[in-house]
Parts: sequence; structure tokens; C-alpha cells
Amino acid sequence: MKIDDSYLARRRFLCGMLGSGAVAFGASVGVPLVAYVGNLREDPPPKRMEIEKADYQLASGTSKKLMYGPITALLIQTPGPQSILKVFVATCTHLDCPVGYDPQHNHIFCPCHEGYYHVDGRVMSGPPPRRLQEFYHRFHDGKLIIALQEENLQEENSEKENLEKAPQES
Ligand code: FES
Repeated sequence: MKIDDSYLARRRFLCGMLGSGAVAFGASVGVPLVAYVGNLREDPPPKRMEIEKADYQLASGTSKKLMYGPITALLIQTPGPQSILKVFVATCTHLDCPVGYDPQHNHIFCPCHEGYYHVDGRVMSGPPPRRLQEFYHRFHDGKLIIALQEENLQEENSEKENLEKAPQES
């Protein structure tokens, strides 16, 4: 039986189309899947972090952001004669937008949905459901040590060190 050349050409064309479709489908599913798995493998935050004086010393009424592994930390040196250092996770408790310090009004703000926090982390107004998460921190040998878990902060603690316990979330 003789097979028509046009039949073979159509068959090759259809096979090519199916092959291209399979490759495109594989890429459309595979690339996001690889990216997703890659995100799952993102390094966890460290147990604790030491910050040199030059990196944490701030003028009164100013702030700075630092990376704590994959987490952004917001350091605020509160204004006024009773100035203290506050260290927050710089992530809004509403929908995880990054927050920043507004020195002019001395509050923390979230630009996504106009969420405002007092400089001690309490919610001032807007949609945030709870206060900002605060790092535990202490000073040792001129360095600032921060951690998300109090027990990690105390890991290498001696009795005489200046331990500062951050307030719990309410
Ligand atoms: S994410 Fe901050 S107010 Fe909505």
C-alpha cells in the first residue's frame, strides 16, 4: 500500500506540534515548580546575630534596616532624653508588607494599607491585627546581639551580661 506524501507531511507536522506543546507545558509547570521548591529551601534565619557597634549605633530619632538571614530587621533609636534602641521584624502583621520608621512623626508605618504602629510596636491605627514582632536583644562586648527566640539569645549568656527582654506579642 502506498502512503500519500501529504499524509506523512501532516503526520510530521502534528507530531511536531504535539512535541512543542509538551515542551511548552513542561516549561510552564516545571519552571514555577523549581522556583517554588527553591523558595522552600531558603536558608532559615540564624539562631542569633551579632552586630558591630558601627552598624547599630544610631543618632536619636533615626532608624536603620539590617538583614537577619532572610528577615529584615528594623532598628530604631527612639528620640528624646530617654532614647532606647528598639529592634523589630520589619514586616507588617497585616499582610506582610515591609514597614518603615517615620522620624518626623516618630511612628512606624506600613504603606500598603496605611497601617501605623507606635514606636514600641503597638498598633496605632489601620488594619494590622497585632503589634510588630520584636527581636530579643542584649549588648555584649560592645556588640548588639539579636535573636527571635529568647533561649537563643541566652545561649552563650553569662550572669552579668546586660540582658534586655523584649515585650511579648499581645
Ligand atoms: S500589609 Fe500593612 S497595613 Fe496591610
